[in-house]
Amino acid sequence: MARLVVKPVSRALTGSVPLPSDKSIAHRALIFAALSAGVCELRGFSYAEDNVATLRAFESLGVECQDDHRGTLSVHGVTLAGLRAPKQALYCGNSGTTMRLLSGVLSAQRFLSRLTGDASLSRRPMARVVDPLRARGALIEGAPHPTLEGDVTAPLVISPLPRDERLLPIEANLETASAQVKSALLLSGLFASGPTMVREPLLSRDHTERMLDALGMPIEAMGPMVSLHPPASPDAIRPFDVELPGDLSAAAFLLVAATLVEGSVVTTRNTGLNPSRAGIIDILRAFGGVVGITPKGDSSLGEPFGEVTAQTASLRGVSVGGELALRGIDEIPIACALAARAAGKTEFHDLRELRVKETDRIAGMVDLLRAFDVEAYELVDGLQVEGRPNGRLRAARVSSGGDHRLAMTAAVLGLVADGETIVDGADCIGTSFPRFVGTLRALGAELEVRP
Ligand code: S3P
Repeated sequence: MARLVVKPVSRALTGSVPLPSDKSIAHRALIFAALSAGVCELRGFSYAEDNVATLRAFESLGVECQDDHRGTLSVHGVTLAGLRAPKQALYCGNSGTTMRLLSGVLSAQRFLSRLTGDASLSRRPMARVVDPLRARGALIEGAPHPTLEGDVTAPLVISPLPRDERLLPIEANLETASAQVKSALLLSGLFASGPTMVREPLLSRDHTERMLDALGMPIEAMGPMVSLHPPASPDAIRPFDVELPGDLSAAAFLLVAATLVEGSVVTTRNTGLNPSRAGIIDILRAFGGVVGITPKGDSSLGEPFGEVTAQTASLRGVSVGGELALRGIDEIPIACALAARAAGKTEFHDLRELRVKETDRIAGMVDLLRAFDVEAYELVDGLQVEGRPNGRLRAARVSSGGDHRLAMTAAVLGLVADGETIVDGADCIGTSFPRFVGTLRALGAELEVRP
């Protein structure tokens, strides 16, 4: 297992850097490309392990994909009727999005499939997708969850739909906003005999809806309510080319690093700016961060992107909850680094879902902050952090626990610590940001991976 060694910064971070492709968007672009009626080009596809899991799954389902080694992935779509039975289980690795979104697609097929994952994914709750898919006639089953009573987890086994049956129309009211559940239902809805309606308490990231709309599918979205009619023909998804926007979730580590390291100015290029996903920008600003945005337009799949610049700022503690917590859910770990350096107390609320991400990120962040000598406490639905704006943090030796976002947050905290910080189990960073170390180095940080 690799160790990441981070030196405290001796100079400001400066520069303008590219990002890996947005993980959420890349999963969906792969899915729609595979189901399209021709060859699609995904430009800027980065080989984050989670996205590779989706790519390999479609290859196992008979979809040919070619990389030109200059950043473009060609996907030979097989139409809505063309996926083939996989010869082995589809291994989703660490990727909850792969497993949950593919469940939607595979529930509608006339062949058997089995979805497996790594140790972390094999503890994540899956009833949230299994139950509504079953409600529309899918023959999908999970294994009993080891600790969450009444829930199920991977492996998921999806039996073939009988020859003369299709998935049923559904009207689903989600108790918790979830883009993965919503997307699984919408994707299954492409194959159903009638409409799919999903209502969420708050709008979760809407990449799936934007893409369906951009591809001309019969979808209507109104705030947290969306409905989709099944398209008339299996050839309905036209082939497309797309420049994938960069991942704001990856940018967040760099923008926060710039905010914390004295004298820094850092720009992330081609950064995805979908508002249902961009809570971290508002969170940064609420703390007193100085963030500038230069919009550059919309990608062909309806996703806004632009340049984002952050510079050093003095921070004050804030309270984050409600829709802001949802729009920034994956960035709460790195937002904790802001809290660690802010004057006063920060409270994060409405984040129960963080307990069932790649790890329990509430417990994980509290442990991590304490290792750097920052006072932090768990709340039922979030955490509380006492900021330490003055002086350096105490350098720490921590373990990622296999969670990429915790590993990268530890690295950023290490930049403002009083000695060398070591992050054990740093391989997991490849899950979402394979070039994290190189990118931070290009900005002037000193860190290295040791085997
Ligand atoms: C994602 C949705 C979110 C997010 C995850 C990616 C997606 O999860 O946390 O990292 O791409 O749909 P939930 O749907 O569980 O909220």
